[in-house]
Amino acid sequence: MIKVENLIKTFGPKRAVDGVSFAVERGEVLGFLGPNGAGKSTSMRMITGFIPPTSGTVTVGGFDMLENPIPAKRLIGYLPENAPAYTDMTVGGFLNFTAELRGLRGEDRKKAVNRAVEMCFLDAVLHQSIDTRPGDSGVGRADGWAGPKPEIRGAEPDPADG
Ligand SMILES: Nc1ncnc2c1ncn2[C@@H]1O[C@H](COP(=O)(O)OP(=O)(O)O)[C@@H](O)[C@H]1O
Ligand SMILES: [Mg+2]
Repeated sequence: MIKVENLIKTFGPKRAVDGVSFAVERGEVLGFLGPNGAGKSTSMRMITGFIPPTSGTVTVGGFDMLENPIPAKRLIGYLPENAPAYTDMTVGGFLNFTAELRGLRGEDRKKAVNRAVEMCFLDAVLHQSIDTRPGDSGVGRADGWAGPKPEIRGAEPDPADG
C-alpha cells in the first residue's frame, strides 16, 4: 500500500532525512517514532506529496507520488501538525466543503461526512463554529477521514512532541 525507498531530504547543508525505506501493507498500523528533529514530519510531508524528496521514491497504492500525485493523494487522509481550517465555518459546513473539494457529491459526500463525524464524535458540535473549539484536532481528524477513498490515514496528533 505504501512503499518508501531510500528517501533523502536535504535543506542546504542539513540532511533532514537520510535514506529511509519501509513498506506498509493494507490493514497495518505503523507508528513513526523518533526524537525531535529526527525527520518524522519531513518524511510525512514527502510521503503525502507536500514536498518532493531530494532523492528516493514514494509509492502509494501503486502510484508514484512524484509522477502520479493525484491518484496517490486520493488514497490519503492526512492530519498535519498544524491542520488549516476556516475557523469561522461550522464543523459540518467545513467537512462538507472539504469533501466537495475532494470531488465528492450528493449521497457520496453525505456518507463520507457522516462516517467521519461519527468516528470523531463530532455529532454534538456540527453546527458550532470551529473557532469555538480551540486546541481541538477533532475537525482536522474528521477531515482526514472524509476523503473519497480514504484508504490510508496519517496523523501528527501532538505538535508539542514534534
Ligand atoms: N524547511 C526546512 N528547512 C530547513 N531545515 C528543516 C526544514 N524542515 C525541517 N528541517 C530540519 O530537518 C530536521 C528534521 O526535522 P523534522 O522532520 O521536523 O523532525 P521531527 O518531525 O522528527 O521532529 C530538523 O533538524 C529540522 O530543523
Ligand atoms: Mg515533527
